[in-house]
Amino acid sequence: MTQDELKKQAAEAALAYVQGGIIGVGTGSTVNHFIDYLARIKGRFEGAVSSSDVSSERLKSHGIEVFDLNSVGDLSLYVDGADEANGRLQLIKGGGGALTREKIVAAASETFVCIADESKRVDVLGAFPLPVEVIPMARSYVARQLVKLGGTPVWREGFVTDNGNAILDIQGLEIQDPMALEQQINNIAGVVTVGLFALRRADMLILGSPNGVKTYEP
Ligand code: A5P
Repeated sequence: MTQDELKKQAAEAALAYVQGGIIGVGTGSTVNHFIDYLARIKGRFEGAVSSSDVSSERLKSHGIEVFDLNSVGDLSLYVDGADEANGRLQLIKGGGGALTREKIVAAASETFVCIADESKRVDVLGAFPLPVEVIPMARSYVARQLVKLGGTPVWREGFVTDNGNAILDIQGLEIQDPMALEQQINNIAGVVTVGLFALRRADMLILGSPNGVKTYEP
């Protein structure tokens, strides 16, 4: 099976968690499949809150209404992908650059279902460069602070987030304590969001594999 088929498998399995109301929808190639599957069950839910302009456009193209988070309050379900997931369901996210809105929607949701192909499952987070969204004028300052934490930040040059900010991808980390590192990076002035989802990890991990879908809870 191809990696894309494994992503589709996980995305389709997440439909079982759609129980009506307004659904939080993330960003990325796996979520794109989820959005396409959602279009088949439009009558079963009211609409979506989206974590990126790209996902909003895809949802709207299927005739799914996209709501502003400010007008709907908390959500019961958020479905999103990940770049890495460990056994505690702590994640690295933000490969697509949508980490800030993803973190907001995850925080505002009761249940976060993470969907991915099995290559995303790791023992220790950090082989995937950790994205950090920064206020543009703070980019160099933040990069110097990240070096002190032992990483090698690389500016994602030419990329601007939906919020008008820059991304630094930190290479060379072996993240033994994801919660502590998330807090440390959050505390650097100029950081908008770090793509570590440990303080608010996933509640459920659905992985597509050649032997079928595997589901994990923390
Ligand atoms: C988007 O910013 C990311 O957090 C994605 O959720 C993550 O990169 C997973 O993307 P894929 O589903 O494309 O692997």
